[in-house]
Amino acid sequence: MNVNVMTHPLIQHKVSLIRSIGTSSKDFRQLLDEITLLMGYEITRDLPLEDVEVQTPLVKMVGKQIAGKKLGIIPILRAGLGMVSGLLELMPSARVGHIGLYRDPETLKPVEYYCKLPSDLSERRIIVTDPMLATGGSASAALSLLKDRGAKDIQLMCLVAAPQGVETVNKEHPDVRVYVAALDEKLNEHGYILPGLGDAGDRIFGTK
Ligand code: PRP
Ligand code: URA
Repeated sequence: MNVNVMTHPLIQHKVSLIRSIGTSSKDFRQLLDEITLLMGYEITRDLPLEDVEVQTPLVKMVGKQIAGKKLGIIPILRAGLGMVSGLLELMPSARVGHIGLYRDPETLKPVEYYCKLPSDLSERRIIVTDPMLATGGSASAALSLLKDRGAKDIQLMCLVAAPQGVETVNKEHPDVRVYVAALDEKLNEHGYILPGLGDAGDRIFGTK
């Protein structure tokens, strides 16, 4: 399996808190923000830099800035929305696109209902967000859609993954780097991740 599990102690601590059935929607959103920000810091370590001339109050100097166009953040609706603000805090100039997919509860196959993306996907580093990578069907469909629109440099950022989801994405999109805060044991008979955290969308938005 080709997956980066974020082992930073702060991330691991917050993942245990967010899994708990006793965590309210308000706290769930807050923790997801914090975890996303920490993960975002880790996964952007390799962004290319270029020189930039800076005039300080005293002298001119050559500093560094992120090279090229800024990033694109693409949440998979609805739950992926909960991972946008943490990334925007780090990268306020990023463009945000949206892919609407829901998983049919019977077939577990993704159904597309919305798509609005920045036009210059091929020139940006793209970070796709979705807290849950279960069968991998939704993430894989979103990645195909992005590639059809020209995206080439894509990272997939999830909170909790099942091995099956990682394997599906690895197989269908070997070029996409996958980052998770936790790699769990398996899926149950309804396609939910075990031990997991339940339905991420419902927990973020307080629906059932
Ligand atoms: C959840 C989750 C993923 C998908 C994961 O979304 O946020 O998008 O299921 O499952 P998969 O890997 O088996 O495709 P859901 O369909 O519940 O929609 P929601 O975000 O609107 O709640
Ligand atoms: N979607 C969720 O929200 N949770 C799971 O465990 C699987 C899919």
